[in-house]
Amino acid sequence: MAAKPVAKRLVVLVSGSGTNLQALLDEIERTGAESYGARIVAVGADRDGIEGLARAERAGLPTFVCRVKDHETRQAWDAALAEAVGAYEPDLVVSAGFMKIVGKEFLARFGGRFVNTHPALLPSFPGAHGVRDALAYGAKVTGCTVHFVDDGVDTGPIIAQGVVEVRDEDDESALHERIKDVERRLLVEVVGRLARNGHRIEGRKVVIQ
Ligand code: GRF
Repeated sequence: MAAKPVAKRLVVLVSGSGTNLQALLDEIERTGAESYGARIVAVGADRDGIEGLARAERAGLPTFVCRVKDHETRQAWDAALAEAVGAYEPDLVVSAGFMKIVGKEFLARFGGRFVNTHPALLPSFPGAHGVRDALAYGAKVTGCTVHFVDDGVDTGPIIAQGVVEVRDEDDESALHERIKDVERRLLVEVVGRLARNGHRIEGRKVVIQ
């Protein structure tokens, strides 16, 4: 008898509306954790009162909040975040709209298995305003990038990208909504493939087995 596939453990980090988190939850619900390859074991945030946490609670998942202002230094916050995430023994950690840069300790524990999604085609337009910056620059195409996090700002090895055309009439919010549509599908696809197949990172290249 073939061994039953084991679902990998995911911790998802959020800071906002959590629609990327919801896309993961919906897909896992639709296909079943074993076929998808992963299940979410906890959701963490850097702030209270956000829809991302409410979505996790509605799904019956444990949540935790780790706020920078509750810690004396940024380093102490980073260590506390690493501890909170580590308590759930994740195989992969997913930053789905988590608007904080993690530090050394977090990367020492989760580097190489910490996935982020960014709303621009990296290496163009890194940082907190990827959509606004692409629009202001006059780019004709932009999109989203799912990548591993390293110690720079949106500089880690790229796993997958999705392209979105910029329209003449776009403002930041219209463009971001179309990007998020592509981004949610890409994130669901990439996290599932990483969980089911495993990966290795060779320099800047990510190889999914
Ligand atoms: C995404 O576009 C993500 O790339 C960006 O913030 C957005 C998060 O959306 N950093 P949501 O909270 O998943 O709805």
